[in-house]
Amino acid sequence: MKIYVTRKIPDELLIPLQDKGFEVTMWNEEEIVVPREELLKNVSEADGLLCMLTDTIDKEILEAGKNLKVIGNIAVGFNNIDVEEARKRGIIVTNTPDVLTEATADTTFLLLLSAARNYTESTQILRQGNWGPWSLLQMTGQDLNKSTLGIIGLGRIGEAVVRRAQGFGMNILYYNRSRKEHIEKELNINYDSFENVLKKSDFVCLLVPYSPQLHHMIGSRELKMMKETAVLINTARGGLVDEEALYNALKNKEIYAAGLDVFEREPVSKDHPLLNLSNFEALPHIGSATVNTRMTMGKLAVKNVLNVLVGEKPATPVWK
Ligand code: DGY
Repeated sequence: MKIYVTRKIPDELLIPLQDKGFEVTMWNEEEIVVPREELLKNVSEADGLLCMLTDTIDKEILEAGKNLKVIGNIAVGFNNIDVEEARKRGIIVTNTPDVLTEATADTTFLLLLSAARNYTESTQILRQGNWGPWSLLQMTGQDLNKSTLGIIGLGRIGEAVVRRAQGFGMNILYYNRSRKEHIEKELNINYDSFENVLKKSDFVCLLVPYSPQLHHMIGSRELKMMKETAVLINTARGGLVDEEALYNALKNKEIYAAGLDVFEREPVSKDHPLLNLSNFEALPHIGSATVNTRMTMGKLAVKNVLNVLVGEKPATPVWK
């Protein structure tokens, strides 16, 4: 059996595959996405593929993968893979849910607090020697305590964000495609429509998996529904937010601030217009980036590929 790994990952992660006598080939670059031609060439011989959210696994790649039986995406999101096409071809697609929930909820809160309290602007004022004498309304932001947090997409990460928010004394509203009444009771949170969550919340967190139907689910119409004091956070996928509309809303102070860990096109250049705004916080897609979480994601993806290739059930297939 042959396995292709689309990015350099620690050798120790590959040991379970090598112990089974599988032949593992790896694109040996950490910071360069595997070129399309290289991916096509290698996938044509592979039984298993370990890939990243930066690899577009579309029909052409799946067609080239004549022997391909399993794809282990090292991410919870799998919008980089044409899952329907894979299913038609009997190729099992797996992802890495659960293991990154807490780390991603932490990052969501990191952005939420930073955007609420003008972290980047304040720290720049200090570092650039522009810190004037303490005054009453200097560098003031928004309270979390007693505010309303609106969660769009109540999955595992949404629930983990709720638990953190309750520790900060926030009230929680949520919108989800399907209402989750048992979780409402358990977590003491309230369901409302998408529009009402936008209108009533002081903080809105996007935590839905991306699909083309949800492209730009937050555009100028939705931003106009939000409070002037509201903060928007996105730690899901960049395509959910229309960045031009967000830029205009932030510049014209239609909302208070925003924090993004994900962008429509990644990596973003330093000239991205949003980066010039003082009411904007940015992170470079590091939602799950703790050593422990990323290694656990790697191990889970390897286990999924291994299981399928030895004829067992994968631990976390994207469909059951
Ligand atoms: C994912 O897993 O989908 C994140 O975006 C990266 O951890």
